[in-house]
Amino acid sequence: MKDHGRDEILRHRNGRSTFSGRIGYVLAVAGSAVGLGNIWRFPYLAAKYGGGIFLMVYLILVVTFGYALIVSETALGRMTKKSPVGAFGMFGKGLPFKLGGWINAVIPMLIVPYYCVIGGWVTKYLFEYLRGNTAALAEDVYFAGFTSSSLQVEFWFAVFSAAVVWVIMAGVKQGVERMAKIMMPVLVVLAVLVAVYSMTRPGAGAGIRYFLIPNFKNFSIMTVVAAMGQMFYSLSIAMGVLYTFGSYIREDVDIEHSTAQVEVFDTAIAVLAGLMIIPAVFAFSGGDAETLQAGPALMFITIPKVFANMGSGTMAGVLFFLLVLFAALTSAVSLMETSVSTFEDQMGWGRMKCCAVMTGIMLILGSFSALGFGILDFIKIFGLSILDFFDFLTNSVMMPLAALATCILVVRVVGLDKIETEVCQSSKFKRKGVYRFVMKYLAPVFILVILISSIANVLGLINM
Ligand code: PFF
Repeated sequence: MKDHGRDEILRHRNGRSTFSGRIGYVLAVAGSAVGLGNIWRFPYLAAKYGGGIFLMVYLILVVTFGYALIVSETALGRMTKKSPVGAFGMFGKGLPFKLGGWINAVIPMLIVPYYCVIGGWVTKYLFEYLRGNTAALAEDVYFAGFTSSSLQVEFWFAVFSAAVVWVIMAGVKQGVERMAKIMMPVLVVLAVLVAVYSMTRPGAGAGIRYFLIPNFKNFSIMTVVAAMGQMFYSLSIAMGVLYTFGSYIREDVDIEHSTAQVEVFDTAIAVLAGLMIIPAVFAFSGGDAETLQAGPALMFITIPKVFANMGSGTMAGVLFFLLVLFAALTSAVSLMETSVSTFEDQMGWGRMKCCAVMTGIMLILGSFSALGFGILDFIKIFGLSILDFFDFLTNSVMMPLAALATCILVVRVVGLDKIETEVCQSSKFKRKGVYRFVMKYLAPVFILVILISSIANVLGLINM
């Protein structure tokens, strides 16, 4: 495979690039993992799907499924030195192998367009904070007004997309990632400060309890469906990305230890985001059920209220949206990069052509999502807006299928022993028992149940 000129942290070795060490690998995976999924998506799902019970299910899934899938994908990538289509292809030539590889490879191509729409929303909010519009942003109707203005949403989507394409084309990816490494700790500090502020507002206690204490009355099968999709999304699994990352690591990189670090870091940021946003819903909207159900809008409705309430809210707003923008940018770049490299590997096209094709896909699909709250508002797919539909299709349908394909490949074709040998080259593999149990029994059955329930739900066959 060609070297895509991807990173300075990648070194050439045996014709394939490798990360220069474990830290390089952990930082690259963490940069891709921590993004809008943690700060924008996790809190709204937690608010919508039962608070504490969602959190509990999510945590269980991260340490079982999430762990087993990260280890599997990384080990398969390292073993084959290929990204997903190539990795599946190495074990067989038939249709199932092609489907298994491609479903993993297509998911990032479907996510990146709508990811950039949300990136555009973040850019717009940063711009408004820079103009000092702190009070206006905190008004209930602001977000809906903005997203229904097609021209504006399309404009900010284009701005964010241009930034992503520019980072990839101009070869400044390394610079952006270095910046992100500095910004990430700043984001954590700011998130802690905002979380403390929001948790200490009058009335916030109910929100803290709602988010942290599981209440089994709030449980439904959709809690598990949503938590599972979110786990895939947030950890960047079931979308081929970790195969590609795994293909760049050397045999001496401790896969198990690195996985644990990424799991902890990614989850900590998500929980922190929950603590910033959910208590604020209770403090500023009295735990109003409609606000809790706000969905994708939640962060954009709630966080500005927190800032407007603070003394120096404009500065906090600028800093917060700048940091979120960076986290979103590094994730979007890594999604786009994965898609571009699939085209490079499978079509044999030049990098320029691959970038152009991917940009085209992004602009067309993204525009549908962007306009879905404005002039295309009349289009509803299974009752969902276009953006929500893409989110549902990728997270609740395609990712479980991609994860299932990986499980079948590992258990039926490659064999658990081979993966174990691969991981044990550099790890003690302490959670081997959990790994085997999840891959062999829990994952396949569970994934199928989830898949069927989520499809039945969206088709209105069952009401959950
Ligand atoms: N994990 C990212 C997030 O939580 O925002 C989303 C993502 C980014 C997935 C990059 C995959 C990826 F390659």
